[in-house]
Amino acid sequence: MLNELEKLAAFIGNTPLIELKNNDANLFAKLEYNNFTGSSKDRASFSIIYNGIRDGKINEDTTIIASSSGNLAISVASICKRLKLKFIPVIDPNINSAYETLLNLISYEVVKVTERDYTGGYLLTRIETVDRLQAETPNSFIADQYGDPNNYKGYAGLGEEILSSFKDLDYIFTAVSSSGAITGISSYIKQRRPEIKIIGVDVEGSVIFNAKPVKRYISGIGASRIPPIIENAIIDDVVIVSQLDIIRGCFELLNEQAIFAGASSGAVYLAAKNHAKANTVKATSLMIFPDKGHTYLDTIYNKEWGAELAVKLKETELV
Ligand SMILES: Cc1ncc(COP(=O)(O)O)c(C=O)c1O
Repeated sequence: MLNELEKLAAFIGNTPLIELKNNDANLFAKLEYNNFTGSSKDRASFSIIYNGIRDGKINEDTTIIASSSGNLAISVASICKRLKLKFIPVIDPNINSAYETLLNLISYEVVKVTERDYTGGYLLTRIETVDRLQAETPNSFIADQYGDPNNYKGYAGLGEEILSSFKDLDYIFTAVSSSGAITGISSYIKQRRPEIKIIGVDVEGSVIFNAKPVKRYISGIGASRIPPIIENAIIDDVVIVSQLDIIRGCFELLNEQAIFAGASSGAVYLAAKNHAKANTVKATSLMIFPDKGHTYLDTIYNKEWGAELAVKLKETELV
C-alpha cells in the first residue's frame, strides 16, 4: 500500500506560488488548491494515512473513519479509494451538496447524523457517532485531524517549499481550523527562520483563540473546540475576521486578482491587505490559499445568501 500511496505523492505539494497586485506590500499566495483533491488537506490526510500504514495501525482490511464534512473527508475518501481501503465519513446536514454527492460516490459508506447536540450544533453528535462506529467495527482507524500529530507533520513539506522560494519573507498568513497547517508550517519555519512572523487568521465565533462563540455560517475556517495539536504551534499574531468581511475578502480576491477561491483564502487576503495598509514598511507577505471557490457558490458567492447572513448576524447582535 505504501508504494501505491507514494505514487500519489507526486500530486501533493509543490503548489504554485503567485505574486499578487498590491501597492502596500509584496504579496504572494501559495495556491494550495492545486493539490491532488483540490485542497491543502491532501498534505494532512496523506501524512495521517501514510504514518498509520507505516506504524501498522492501518492494513488492507482496515476501515478508516473520520468526522468531516469538508476537504479532509474528500481527501481521505480519495486516498482510500486509490488504496482500496474502506472509508466511512461521518457528516452532518450542513454539508455542501457537491461534497455529499462525491462522498457518496467514493466512500464505502456515508453516515449522516441528523440530531443536534446540546450546543445546537452537530459536532458532539458526530464525535459520538465516530466513537460508536470505531467500537463496533473491528480493525478500524480514526483519521483524527484535530488530535493526530501526523496532521501537522504533513505540512513540513509546505514549510520547506516556502523557505526554498523566499530569500526574504516577513509574514505568513494562514487560516486556522484543525490547526494542522499553521502548526506544521510554524514548527518547521520557526526552527530555521525564527524572524518570519506567523499570523493565524480565524473567523468570528470560532473558539480556537478564545474569541466569543457566535453562530458560524461559513465553512472551512474556525472550530468549535480548541484543537489539541495547536499546542505545538508557534504563532506570533492572530487576526479575527468577521463573517461578512470574509465574503468581502473573497469578492475582492476575485475582482482584484481574478482568483476564485474559498472562504479561508478570502479571510487571509483581507487580513494581509489590511495589515499591509497599516504597515509603514513595505513587507513581503505570503498567504496560504487552501481551496477553490466552487463549493462556495451557494453561500459566499451567492449575493442573496450574503444579504440573508447580514440580517441574521444583525439579529444575533441585538439579542
Ligand atoms: C478551507 C480551508 N480552510 C482552512 C484550512 C486550514 O485548516 P487546518 O487548520 O485544519 O489545517 C484548510 C486546510 O486544508 C482548508 O481546506
